[in-house]
Amino acid sequence: MGDLASGHRKSTHDMTSDARQHCTRNSRRVETADPMWETEFLGLKLRNPLVAASGPPTKDFAAIRRLSSAGIGAAITKTILVEPSVNPQPCLHRGPGFFFNTERCSTLPLSQWLREELPRLAELPMPVIASIGMTADEVSELAVPVVEAGADALELSIFTPPDDPGPMIRALHTVKEKVSVPVTVKLSCNVPDIVAFGLALREHGADGFSSIDALKAGLDVDPLSGAPVLMEQGYGRISGEAIRVLALYHVAMLNHYVGLPVIGTGGVMSGEDAVKMLFCGAQCVGVCTSLILGGADSVRVLLAELADAIKSSGHRSVNTLRGRTLESIQFPVDEVARQEYEHIIWDGVPRVALINQKNCIQCGKCFSVCPYGAIRNAEARFSVLPQQCQGCGLCVSICPVRAIDWELADEQER
Ligand SMILES: Cc1cc2nc3c(=O)[nH]c(=O)nc-3n(C[C@H](O)[C@H](O)[C@H](O)COP(=O)(O)O)c2cc1C
Repeated sequence: MGDLASGHRKSTHDMTSDARQHCTRNSRRVETADPMWETEFLGLKLRNPLVAASGPPTKDFAAIRRLSSAGIGAAITKTILVEPSVNPQPCLHRGPGFFFNTERCSTLPLSQWLREELPRLAELPMPVIASIGMTADEVSELAVPVVEAGADALELSIFTPPDDPGPMIRALHTVKEKVSVPVTVKLSCNVPDIVAFGLALREHGADGFSSIDALKAGLDVDPLSGAPVLMEQGYGRISGEAIRVLALYHVAMLNHYVGLPVIGTGGVMSGEDAVKMLFCGAQCVGVCTSLILGGADSVRVLLAELADAIKSSGHRSVNTLRGRTLESIQFPVDEVARQEYEHIIWDGVPRVALINQKNCIQCGKCFSVCPYGAIRNAEARFSVLPQQCQGCGLCVSICPVRAIDWELADEQER
């Protein structure tokens, strides 16, 4: 990588002392956090772990100020380019359980970000991370002026083929040479092996990640006309509820195998979703679609829900619950097994389902869903037939009142 790093185009702003010193400036203006919320990300102090991910809610100073007033912990700007983007029309669509977009990067000219938006953002009582893209040459030109204008950290949003982190690595090299603020990389889940990407980027100097970006791609159709909802573009990137489980998986994998701090992003629509991200090891929780749909007011709702979710989980702070889920997962050491879980031979303890009669509301959902006919409906009560039960877990997941739990199969026989 040496020749790539030294071969970059030097900017006239290269490596001023102002840019180099900038990473220490943040702590001055962040409000004191409630101990429950105390969050640090790459040396930046946040009043809580909720971060506005790059997107329409962070399109300029006015939008980010509204989020800041509502109490968001930090914000990542809409991705700034050397030349402003032009959006297709339409570019946003809400469907049931998903969100589509074909929105491009920031439509504001770079000069406006440098002269107006970023200097005003630097006055807000929270860190502001500037997202810059999309090629190594472009971010090389943007990094120093954007930091000098007030960004506390940089996030690189780079066009990269699914099987080659090379463009991200080149971008990292050129940016890390020029600034000393933390530099994170926005990761897409459209890659075959997120761990391979994470490890390569760690080796080449990434300080952390935002994971995941909106997923490419989905299509929906108007059932009356048959027209694609995004009109002539046809398909768009997917975000919101539909990608939450993918995001949790990627955040857990990055935490376990790579170990750099992650802004866990994707499908967080409630405080309960946010707590799941923290359980999976996210340092902070990124939100975009829920802010698009709920506006700045949704920050207060999300924070109140998150406080409730933390208490319900029996924890006192984000720091005590962070990463707990990872302790229960048997992550394969072998790379082949890591990439394909069906190679893992299961050696857990056999279980059967057990219905707690005190909690059961007799809804019968377990009875109708059981693929093995292992639920009996007799004398106005539902119970498990242990010989038929395959321990598949479907009834446990479908019960609306958590009345079904596990019993070890050998205990049941006693
Ligand atoms: C309309 C829209 C615009 C977005 N624009 C950007 C962008 O400019 N840069 C970027 O890195 N991510 C962008 N994203 C991706 C989000 O930051 C986020 O990673 C993704 O939407 C998943 O989070 P969510 O499910 O909370 O929306 C955008 C997402 C949406 C929905």
